[in-house]
Amino acid sequence: MMIEKIANLIKEATGEEEVKVMIPEQNKFGHYSTNLAFVIAKYQEIPVVAVAKEIREKILRKAPKNFFERIDIAANGFLNFFLSKETLEEEINKILCLKNRYGYSDKGKGQVIIIDYSSPNVAKPLTIGHFRSTIIGQALVNLFKFQGYKVIGDNHLGDWGAQFGALLVAFKKWKNEKELKENLVGHLVSLYVRFHKEAENNEKLLDEAKEETKKLQEGNKENRKLWKLFITESLKEFNKTYKRLGIKFSLTLGESFYQPMLNQVVKEALEKKVAVYNEGAVKIFFQEKELIPPMVIQKSDDSFLYTTTDLAAIKYRVSRWHLNKILYVVANEQTLHFNQVFRAAEMLGYAPKNILVHIKFGMLLGEEGKKMSTRKGEFIKLEEVLNKAVEKAGQINKEAAEKVGIGAIKYYDLSHYRESDIVFDWDRMLDLKGNSGPYLQYTYSRLKSILKKALVLPFFQNSNNFFSRKIDISLASSEAEKNIIRQLIYFPDAVAYAAETYSPNHLADYLYKLANCINVFYEKESVLNAENKIKENRLSLVSASSQVLKTGLDLLGIKVVEKM
Ligand code: ARG
Repeated sequence: MMIEKIANLIKEATGEEEVKVMIPEQNKFGHYSTNLAFVIAKYQEIPVVAVAKEIREKILRKAPKNFFERIDIAANGFLNFFLSKETLEEEINKILCLKNRYGYSDKGKGQVIIIDYSSPNVAKPLTIGHFRSTIIGQALVNLFKFQGYKVIGDNHLGDWGAQFGALLVAFKKWKNEKELKENLVGHLVSLYVRFHKEAENNEKLLDEAKEETKKLQEGNKENRKLWKLFITESLKEFNKTYKRLGIKFSLTLGESFYQPMLNQVVKEALEKKVAVYNEGAVKIFFQEKELIPPMVIQKSDDSFLYTTTDLAAIKYRVSRWHLNKILYVVANEQTLHFNQVFRAAEMLGYAPKNILVHIKFGMLLGEEGKKMSTRKGEFIKLEEVLNKAVEKAGQINKEAAEKVGIGAIKYYDLSHYRESDIVFDWDRMLDLKGNSGPYLQYTYSRLKSILKKALVLPFFQNSNNFFSRKIDISLASSEAEKNIIRQLIYFPDAVAYAAETYSPNHLADYLYKLANCINVFYEKESVLNAENKIKENRLSLVSASSQVLKTGLDLLGIKVVEKM
């Protein structure tokens, strides 16, 4: 990673510990810059340019020979670093030689991260409400793996709880064999809806549901068998969608997995005096200044809650793996829940608070800016949204409609700042000229078509590995080429930054900028009609660009398209 390399170099040269290196917006400010002189001058009250000059001397003495072309000092004391031809060449050649490993770092070597994502509730369909957790979660899995971490992706299924009592009652009373055979999960959903409708006028049903939940929890054979059936069938449905979306978990330990541990959690909490009995329930109270409302971990009827399960899951995860982080990719709405759980886990001695991170995200809103739902007020099924995306993408590219449609909707999600709400906008999502998945796929296909055409040129016929031919920076003298080169070397920085900030949108931004550089180059300069030496060099640049674009899209979970 260039940014880190330069920061380290400055640290070593100056002995300063806090060094911030940035990527300037404009080329004229170099490839990288730092405000270090400005910071030092401020606390030492020396003229900033004098400080900058001194720092520059120290850095140049320390830097490897020919690493920088030059270091400029701006009027405000910023140091602007221009990498030398040799450094740039080495970096671009790394892309050509490492291929899809370019940008990989072993920074996370030996560290373990659990990512808890997707986590839908069983016996219901996957809805648009599950989309963001699933897509952001998978992107984070990919990004952290690429940073050398051992990543455990865990689908924390909602496969336990009161909804099963209702479902069991409805199933036993009203199940329809024919519908069951045709579409079990769909039938369960309608049974569940019917239960709640009828329960409005018939409270007895609610008692029956409680009774069935209790029987299930006590291990009643028939209820257990049905419950298992509901789960396996739901998972079959989920997996179809996961496959379409390219989602792969390492584990699916649902909430039910932790049920045998819950008694112990409550017992420990009481023993350690972290929890107390209050109005018949067991609750954890936080310090007043923390402003966190108390959290119930066992109800007065002895049943456990979502919170209890999350505490047990932390205890289990920390004891099973030597963990560095657990990331929870869950909507903004659950912020309070995680504040409570994380703090309680700390009080219980299960995990230090700083290893637990809530990766929150905003809502996906319908085109009118309201929560997306059907006319009846239910969430929209995810499969239906995906089908619609694919159908619309068919107008752009018939053969690759699935890749383009799914890529469009994923990119739309990932390119937005995670914590804000997103308004669903099909036109922007599929805009071939805007910041969209199809635009990036299109850019890639353009590069690919050049490379394909080059292969049949007599010039390249007997050199089958010209893609790995080295680049000569002095031959890449046009503005457009320089811009691509500049953008390419930022790739490892962008990947690391996206992972560190848990924000895939930084990688999306990066790829969009790269695509813009590529398209300008494509419009302005010819590749195949250029003079031989230049042509060869440009083909290497095209090859490096297509590689980086592909690696980046892979990390976001977006498939490339060869022809568009
Ligand atoms: N099943 C939950 C829901 O649909 C999400 C679970 C998130 N993960 C967790 N460990 N609490 O709201």
